[in-house]
Amino acid sequence: MREAISNILEKLEEQSSLEKTRKVDIPQQDRMLAITKETGELLNMILRLKNAKNMLEVGTSAGYSTIWCAEAISENSGKIITIEQNPDKIKRANDNFQKAEIADNIIIKEGAAINILKKLNIKVKNQNFFDFVLIDADKENIIEYFDLILPMVAIGGVIITDNMLYPEKYRQEMKKLSNHIKKNPKVRTTTSPVGNGEEITIKIK
Ligand SMILES: C[S@@+](CC[C@H](N)C(=O)[O-])C[C@H]1O[C@@H](n2cnc3c(N)ncnc32)[C@H](O)[C@@H]1O
Repeated sequence: MREAISNILEKLEEQSSLEKTRKVDIPQQDRMLAITKETGELLNMILRLKNAKNMLEVGTSAGYSTIWCAEAISENSGKIITIEQNPDKIKRANDNFQKAEIADNIIIKEGAAINILKKLNIKVKNQNFFDFVLIDADKENIIEYFDLILPMVAIGGVIITDNMLYPEKYRQEMKKLSNHIKKNPKVRTTTSPVGNGEEITIKIK
């Protein structure tokens, strides 16, 4: 891994662990709420296995997960579209992408995920556009996000949803999502205990 990338990932992992230990009081809106390192490694591996070129992410925060994914996708000259509504987080993410020397592979879309996904649905005329998606934003609209995203995913494309098991406060919503996905004949899905619990969904038809 290039040094510029591993340095930034390490720095963000330190911030994340400070956040989790609650030794410093970080206001809710400033928390990264990032995926775990193990999840980052898993995403990176799946992107490499798939030779992915077009990725969508919902929930950028400071860019930790985006950088893990960009590290893999950049070797394929691929692009990540990542959605975030908090301007301060976008600034932090942009700064981290520049420092990781990976900014050319990332397009940040600022705004509410639901609006951006609806616009993307119209824009992506080739409906089978994305070969990899990470869903990691608010949980209230998560079923709607999944339903808007699925038609834009290529057959064989992968959708990963974070926080299936932790924090526990999301369990009920995530269970509803998991049941919703399982009912869809167009996908195969499994809940993996990696990190905060990752739903790994493959579009099969
Ligand atoms: C769990 S964090 C993302 C962490 C990031 N994926 C990572 O692992 O580094 C969720 C992010 O989604 C953003 N978010 C929450 N609701 C959103 C919405 N409705 N539209 C766009 N972004 C949203 C939050 O501001 C927050 O930065």
